Amino acid sequence: MKRILTIGILCLCAAFARAGVLEDIVPRPAEAVLQNGNVRVSGLPFKCDASLPKEAQTAVAAFASHLGYVSGKSCPFAAPPGLEAAVAAGKVKGALFLRDASLGAEAYTIEVASGRVIVRASGLSGVRYALETIRQMLPAAIYGEQIAEKERWTLPCCVIRDEPRFAWRGMHLDCSRHFWQVEEIKRYLDVMAMYKLNRFHWHLTDDQGWRIEIKAYPLLNQIACWREGTMVGHDFSSNDGIRYGGFYTQEEIREVVAYAAARGITVVPEIDLPGHMLAALSAYPELGCTGGPYFAWTRWGVSDQVLCVGKESSFTFLEGVLSEVAALFPGEYIHIGGDECPKDEWKKCPDCQALIRALGLKDDGRFSAEQYLQNYVTKRIQAFLATKGKKIIGWDEILEGELAPGATVMSWRGTAGAVEASAKGFDAILSPVSHCYFDYRQAEDPAGEPDSFDGVVTLEKIYSLDPLAGVDPAQAHHILGVQANLWTEYISTPEHLEYMLLPRMLALAEVQWCPAGQRDLERFLRVLREHEFPVLDRAGYNYRKIINQ
Ligand code: ACM
Ligand code: ZN
Repeated sequence: MKRILTIGILCLCAAFARAGVLEDIVPRPAEAVLQNGNVRVSGLPFKCDASLPKEAQTAVAAFASHLGYVSGKSCPFAAPPGLEAAVAAGKVKGALFLRDASLGAEAYTIEVASGRVIVRASGLSGVRYALETIRQMLPAAIYGEQIAEKERWTLPCCVIRDEPRFAWRGMHLDCSRHFWQVEEIKRYLDVMAMYKLNRFHWHLTDDQGWRIEIKAYPLLNQIACWREGTMVGHDFSSNDGIRYGGFYTQEEIREVVAYAAARGITVVPEIDLPGHMLAALSAYPELGCTGGPYFAWTRWGVSDQVLCVGKESSFTFLEGVLSEVAALFPGEYIHIGGDECPKDEWKKCPDCQALIRALGLKDDGRFSAEQYLQNYVTKRIQAFLATKGKKIIGWDEILEGELAPGATVMSWRGTAGAVEASAKGFDAILSPVSHCYFDYRQAEDPAGEPDSFDGVVTLEKIYSLDPLAGVDPAQAHHILGVQANLWTEYISTPEHLEYMLLPRMLALAEVQWCPAGQRDLERFLRVLREHEFPVLDRAGYNYRKIINQ
């Protein structure tokens, strides 16, 4: 009797565990229907139709190889032609990846039944997301490097039809305030890929350090990438006296871009202008309104020493820098910052004032002449980058005045910037401080939390973001998506960085991916505890292990 009861309980547990597998996928798929039975995948042959792109075949082969390794039963890989016909004739077993041109670029389907796993996608992105979904359905050991033969290497029979809600699923990283090694950036990209994020916003320049090699302006990488110390904690008058710096060579930039691309992630570089440029001015002081001397800032905040845009040589500099940036990053966008540009120096500068007069710019009661001057800079840079085949993104300050043609607004001071931009027929990305600033601490109570910017963005808060709130439904297509930002003033170690990122990035992933109305906080928090924390453990990430609710 006792034995029968035990078996009964075990069966029940297995049924629940299996039912839970589909529920436990993060981000939750648009549609997932559980059916009876399961399919063992350890030792299964993996086949990819030869008509799928080579990169997709490589991704499937790498997955099969890793699955074979951790499960202890190797999964042979092949990419034969005409797989579709063989599958239709029911002649072939295995995990079968087929091309379906009718699916959107990021869509995929998975059918698990009768000893087969059939994946359909139109190209690399869909195949990649299907693989991530399959990984989420397998034991967490799939994320590790250790052999785990005793795990249950099966998938439940099911039908999944999935595609993301938003095209822009971004995560930003500030590499100026603290410099992150290429290996750390790769780990960041890895965890983004695990949760189907697809845009890495690389904040490469700021008042506190210039981090990208520019061959035409070598002093950026001899002078502007260094600062003479860093403020200690939150004491703005302090300096630890330790020279701090670093930059990415163009070779390293290409390496990161390629690494990201292999994971379906486009890198969006940010060259912040015309404010947040003190480090650049330290190398080329003739580009400032006063001529300097200037020094990369050792403290946080917004410097009022900005680029002198009254001098034509400043545009020569920007165009030289952006030409190299455009050549390094194949994506369609370059982020040109535009945020927090104090106008005090421009008000006093004879060159800036002469340009204001020449352009006939005036304070019209809505915006000052100097705000219109920044508007002129944005439009000029937009036109220049258009000649390189690039579109611009700017922080929502670029709305002040008149938007540059084709500009995309990144709405950070709340969501109003995105609402305004979309109403005007411009694209926008949501990244409001209130929900998306991961440099803020994760709990109301600072006790036990590591150092952070003095604000709070809880897991629940990011999960609650409604990206289309206030947006005219007729203009909703202008909301490209959602991004979280990780500024690093108060973060100086990889462990701390990962702690601030995780698990909030998983909540962000559901906001970015799940269809409207399909998010469920209670389920999400349970899944975090029961499934994603073990996943992050196996993948070796540091994360906040406390869930407040
Ligand atoms: C910003 O946080 N200054 C965009
Ligand atoms: Zn000036």
